[in-house]
Amino acid sequence: MFSYLYFLCRFMSSIFKDRSKLSPRYIPERLPHRDGQIKVLLSLYGHVLEDPESAFLQVTQIVGGVGTGKTCTAVNFGKRIEGEASRLDISLKHIYVNAKVEGAGRYVLYRRMLEKAAPKIASRSLSPEEMLFQLVRYLKDEKEYVILTIDEIDYLCKRGEHVIYDLTRLNEISPGEPINILGVLLISRDFSYYKFLEPSELSTLGRCVVEFPPYTSSQIKDILWDRVKMAFKPGAVSDEVLDFISDLTAKPPVNGDVRVALDLLLYSGNLAENMGRSEILPDHVRMVYAETHPGITTEDILDLSDRGKLVLLGLVRALKSQKKAYVGLREIREGYQIVCEERGIKPSGEVEEYVQDLIDRGIVSMKSLREFGISEVPAEDLERFLNGVIERLKVGRDEP
Ligand SMILES: Nc1ncnc2c1ncn2[C@@H]1O[C@H](COP(=O)(O)OP(=O)(O)O)[C@@H](O)[C@H]1O
Ligand SMILES: [Mg+2]
Repeated sequence: MFSYLYFLCRFMSSIFKDRSKLSPRYIPERLPHRDGQIKVLLSLYGHVLEDPESAFLQVTQIVGGVGTGKTCTAVNFGKRIEGEASRLDISLKHIYVNAKVEGAGRYVLYRRMLEKAAPKIASRSLSPEEMLFQLVRYLKDEKEYVILTIDEIDYLCKRGEHVIYDLTRLNEISPGEPINILGVLLISRDFSYYKFLEPSELSTLGRCVVEFPPYTSSQIKDILWDRVKMAFKPGAVSDEVLDFISDLTAKPPVNGDVRVALDLLLYSGNLAENMGRSEILPDHVRMVYAETHPGITTEDILDLSDRGKLVLLGLVRALKSQKKAYVGLREIREGYQIVCEERGIKPSGEVEEYVQDLIDRGIVSMKSLREFGISEVPAEDLERFLNGVIERLKVGRDEP
């Protein structure tokens, strides 16, 4: 009995319902803010299904920064187009290969493609050219269609592998005849790999580009909110914490990478759980973020004027006592007064000016005119550090 209870306590999470929903490998059904891109892809390839026998290979580039949803959108589109085809009684497979993960070079990449699209003939030992030839012939014979997505194509091109040439000219394997590869989707982070391409590759690559702009803070929040409902118990993640993570990850250096936002949620959840809490607090997020993105240095703090340090400490106090991600000027002023009183120092100077200076230095972040916070370090650590520094400085003597 005891060991059963122990087991339950040990493994029943106080915070999580299903941690796996935060994994970058999990692809949700719904992809908020990527409907536009999916619609474009469906319109590009959907009409091909009306008459696949006379369709010609269409190359599309999917371009966007890290964590902008390129991979999950391509996979989601693949599932949808397969469904669409099966309704029309067309045998269509979406083949997805990640060049960075699965394709160390041209040979390995084509082998992966063959294994996924035509497993029956994949065991033969063939040259890269023969593999493509056999693939095209196999699909024709079997009356099967394929849309091919090669993810992280820029990686292979930068390594000097001229795969673009082959992939964009697959229809030249049987000239004049349409082939059963209806589309090639090439995913890259940006266009910088163009400089590694031959002019002939550039010309066949074409200009059909679907762009994936970085997510804004409110878009990140929508995406996270869907995951929070699946991954966490009710009440474990407040609206405020979600806002905080979204703001933090929308701006540099993260620049809207949802993967980082999901990681922050997961690790902050783990941390809160290990600390025996049933709710993530802003400070848990700060602690996790500070470990991966050390933003403020000791120097930044030491460079501050003594009043600046006291105002910062006032802000930290306010954040801690309110358990909030952001606080207002009034709360900062109160925190500052308390901090000064504790040290027997007269609170003087315009708090606003010091707060502005702290913002200019990148130590304090301003969410709105009434909301100020720190994102780079946990309030707890910053407070300990500031206390130490201030004690040694005997503030107040040399300042008005
Ligand atoms: N619009 C979205 N809706 C839901 N989850 C998303 C969305 N965009 C990205 N994600 C999630 O963020 C993570 C990174 O997305 P991914 O498609 O791998 O980005 P990229 O390929 O552009 O680097 C994945 O876990 C993915 O499920
Ligand atoms: Mg990707």
